[in-house]
Amino acid sequence: MIRGKALALPILQGGMGVGISLDRLAGAVAACGGMGTISTALCGFQEPDFARDPKAADLRALARQVKHAKALAKGAGLVAVNAMVATTRYADSVRTALRAGADAVVCGAGLPRDLPGIAAEVPESDAALAPIVSSGRAAALICKLWDKHYHRVPDFVVLEGPLAGGHLGFSREDALEAQAGRPKPLSDLLHEVLTALVPFKEKYQHDIPVFVAGGVKDGAEMRRYMKEGAAGAQFATRFIATEECDASDGYKQALLNAKQEDITIVQSPVGMPGRALRSPLIQRAEAGTQPRPDRCIKCLVPCDFKTTPYCISKALVAARNGDWENGLFFCGANAGAVERLSTVREQMDQIMKEWRAAQ
Ligand SMILES: Cc1cc2nc3c(=O)[nH]c(=O)nc-3n(C[C@H](O)[C@H](O)[C@H](O)COP(=O)(O)O)c2cc1C
Repeated sequence: MIRGKALALPILQGGMGVGISLDRLAGAVAACGGMGTISTALCGFQEPDFARDPKAADLRALARQVKHAKALAKGAGLVAVNAMVATTRYADSVRTALRAGADAVVCGAGLPRDLPGIAAEVPESDAALAPIVSSGRAAALICKLWDKHYHRVPDFVVLEGPLAGGHLGFSREDALEAQAGRPKPLSDLLHEVLTALVPFKEKYQHDIPVFVAGGVKDGAEMRRYMKEGAAGAQFATRFIATEECDASDGYKQALLNAKQEDITIVQSPVGMPGRALRSPLIQRAEAGTQPRPDRCIKCLVPCDFKTTPYCISKALVAARNGDWENGLFFCGANAGAVERLSTVREQMDQIMKEWRAAQ
């Protein structure tokens, strides 16, 4: 149960911006009984007025996408939105998603200190609120802050390890160590987080389920983490190569073509390391030959237009559209294992089959 709502399968599909996990993918995952997640990051990039008024375009698209994903889910699973704390539209996105009826809000790329306060502005919503953390320390800190200021604790927690795709809550060195096969085991981090949550579970007299994310290979691994105390797992990369994924065929093909050695750690303009394919854009940025951006839509709080090596929004939209030359193609450390296009139903069935076999 997640804030009184049943989650039939212990599977979350992680939010993927820009434009990778929108209503189609999230709705399809929820229709199978999992939690599908819409990424709010520039989710209105296809709206006709996006270039003129990106904020209005994003918020309008987000409301429509939440409602559509809920309709696709037909009441089977849950529809969440993922809003990154580092984005300028973070609070507006949360309010819009809650008004549109999202079942959960999951926030990373910074600690969502004020999330319960923002949610309280939409009293008609009783959505679950969850932080994404990468350590027991972060889990304890967010619980302490929410307890002190809002008299509540997270409804669930996503623990993202160093093998995840997109932005990472780890140093570049830790991410590289993980890439080289020497990650701090997710099991250790899970133990840390579960320990950090104990006093808050006791105080509030309810469970705070923890879902592990980042390089969880299959249902058997999910089972192992569940034996260690996790409530389930969050998967992202494997859902990209599905028919329902909102990315273009070009993105899906880039992922299918990728080999393990094509995956690298980039320094993102967000100020965090990120895991991505070594596309020509990344090679130019590394060589210092990438022309500086000529325009800024002020999407990220920490990004400095004058010093950023490339515009991350433009690069992520280019990737979404399959532009190999100019795109930033985020992916998890297991991207090399994705070998064929499938459907969300096949992915969900496969994970649950492996989970059952591993009993
Ligand atoms: C293409 C891509 C984009 C992502 N974008 C986001 C994002 O916008 N916000 C976020 O919190 N996590 C993001 N992530 C992280 C995932 O939600 C997820 O936690 C992680 O990748 C799970 O690991 P896996 O891909 O190995 O299954 C992204 C991951 C990928 C692969």
